[in-house]
Amino acid sequence: MKTLVLATNNKHKLREFKEMLEPIGYEVKTLKDFGITIDPEENGTTYGENAYIKCKAARALVDHPVISDDSGIEILGLNRFPGIHSSRYVDSECNGSYEEAFVDINKKLGNNPDRRAEYHCAICLLENLEDEPKIFEGVCPGYLLMEPNGIGGFGYDPLFHCTESDQDFGIATEDEKNAVSHRKKALVKLMEYLNNK
Ligand code: IMP
Repeated sequence: MKTLVLATNNKHKLREFKEMLEPIGYEVKTLKDFGITIDPEENGTTYGENAYIKCKAARALVDHPVISDDSGIEILGLNRFPGIHSSRYVDSECNGSYEEAFVDINKKLGNNPDRRAEYHCAICLLENLEDEPKIFEGVCPGYLLMEPNGIGGFGYDPLFHCTESDQDFGIATEDEKNAVSHRKKALVKLMEYLNNK
């Protein structure tokens, strides 16, 4: 089995990556398995650049190919805000509270009828430190509800309605969300690439 190191300690992501990649011959490890912690400054201008920054920092410390992902939500009526700043916006402007963020977003949108939103994800694969990074992207389109529904998923999910599955992500099961999610779509592309190597 070939080893891939996932540059995150998010358990949900780890499970999703393992489920997809182990059946095609890849053992997925995390930096924790190597006793390593990284916290590089994610100062890229795209999801792909930020995913590459994480991969590079990790690949310098482990002797295996590394994968990482970066994601966010883009609200079309707010010129795609918060985008790559999705996590930072909640931490720095909403006291780390998504409830506060939902109120703030609704205030920002006001009477704007365009409530379309998209989740974006980029997965980076860096086999060797000096390689060009390979980037795989996925998008999950939907719109923002007028108020949160449910407590499922994480982050912005309670406010998000997915048009593809016609479901509110706050009440969808993990499997239902994973069938259509931005991360899953990017992951399928990574898997296709690895399968054809
Ligand atoms: P990261 O890529 O794990 O740093 O995630 C960036 C941020 O985007 C998260 O902290 C969430 O705020 C938001 N986000 C990304 N993907 C999702 C998702 O599937 N559901 C809800 N929020 C998400």
